[in-house]
Amino acid sequence: MSRTSSRDFANISARDMDEERLVTYPTDAFLSREYLEAEKKLLWPKVWQVVERETDLPNPGDWLTYNVADESIIVLRKQDGSLKAFHNVCPHRGRQLISTPDGVHSVRGSGRKKFVCGFHGWIYDEEGKNLRVLDPQDWQNKLTPEQTCLSEVRVDTWGGFIYINMDRDSVSLKEYLGRAGEILGHYDLDKMRYKWRQWAVYPCNWKTALEAFLEPYHVEGTHTQLLRYQDFYAYSKQYGMHGVSGFDTRDPEYQMKESGGVVRAGKGGDPRVSTYELVRENYETINFAGSTETLVKAASRLADELPAGTSPQEVVAHWLASAKKDDAARGVVWPEIPPEIMKESGLAWSLFPNQNILHGVTFALCYRVRPWGDDPDKCLFEAYALERYPDGDEPETEWVQAEPTAEKWGRVLAQDFGNMEFVQKGMKSSGFRGPLPNPHQEQKVINLHRNLAHFMGGRGAPKRLERG
Ligand code: FES
Ligand SMILES: [Fe+2]
Repeated sequence: MSRTSSRDFANISARDMDEERLVTYPTDAFLSREYLEAEKKLLWPKVWQVVERETDLPNPGDWLTYNVADESIIVLRKQDGSLKAFHNVCPHRGRQLISTPDGVHSVRGSGRKKFVCGFHGWIYDEEGKNLRVLDPQDWQNKLTPEQTCLSEVRVDTWGGFIYINMDRDSVSLKEYLGRAGEILGHYDLDKMRYKWRQWAVYPCNWKTALEAFLEPYHVEGTHTQLLRYQDFYAYSKQYGMHGVSGFDTRDPEYQMKESGGVVRAGKGGDPRVSTYELVRENYETINFAGSTETLVKAASRLADELPAGTSPQEVVAHWLASAKKDDAARGVVWPEIPPEIMKESGLAWSLFPNQNILHGVTFALCYRVRPWGDDPDKCLFEAYALERYPDGDEPETEWVQAEPTAEKWGRVLAQDFGNMEFVQKGMKSSGFRGPLPNPHQEQKVINLHRNLAHFMGGRGAPKRLERG
């Protein structure tokens, strides 16, 4: 983000968002090749974006590439343990230092103290400084270190994630994440480890895919099997660049102060039973993410441990206390999260532009989406589960390319995949008058477009549908 004030946001303000005004926005951002080209200049080189987990570069000399649109960045763990990032390009004639063929997720390696360009053999140290130009006398020895060094990229970490920003004038990562970063900071995401990580090339725009995971408003129409266990009415709220959603309820009896998130009571006459059914269903059909085995097992005992007639609030309090105890016994310590933070933290966050985090105290289900090639109808979709493990007990994982099927991703994600492609197609209809996002439940979607417009010179800005 450049150093600009909120006044620069196009057309609608944070206040309009909070007042839940009716808006629409053009479909250009999803469909237009020209918009995709503009993103390459105006968006990706200007924003903090998540690259990987810090645990992916555990040792000095470990490196990887992060590729987005036409950009490729090398992130390196230096010998002193700190991180450094460069544009993946040799300043001589522009060869990529690390070849990233089309179709690869990323390229990784270890044991690097320097980079040697494969074209004419120029060499760079871990600071990006040029160590060797072949035949410098041919330039009359006039090449300067500034001309022959690698182009540096800003790199920082938060929550165990590595972020980069190509814009040297950008605000710090801390300032960029703002209140969203502070709230999620209580969840000690840095202590979580990968449970699984998968990617797919999917036939829709990156925003179409991202938006499929920004709101639970679609549960009623898409994940109908879940309605047996709970209602999915949710609020959605802008946090400047970012946004949060959380379960809301039309029924005050089910109002939770313990959590507005995915860890909550089931509905119906006996919350001891329905809470277990809800968490088990979530766990098993979201590819063993969105909860943990500890939470499922603790929920399975609720009917034995609590008397009939226990209130939903007491059921959840008991469930969480016993899961916390079970985890402590195996060396998994829950962070202490103040109740007001728990409440504000809701169900899931969107961090601009393309990172989603559905968090729990001991797990997180995350998504990231990037453009794929120069085709606005394609994206690189990634989802991964994080969990808190006893020290040394975390599984070994790597990025696995997986067809977007229920078998590979679980029933719930397959249902989401079942929409995305057809949203992309549907938006091209000459009969589509433009999106009508729900101002209360889909505000994160509107906020995405508000923030995109800010970077895209006002293009694609949401506009009010009503006067006054
Ligand atoms: S392009 Fe790298 S040394 Fe020539
Ligand atoms: Fe969904």
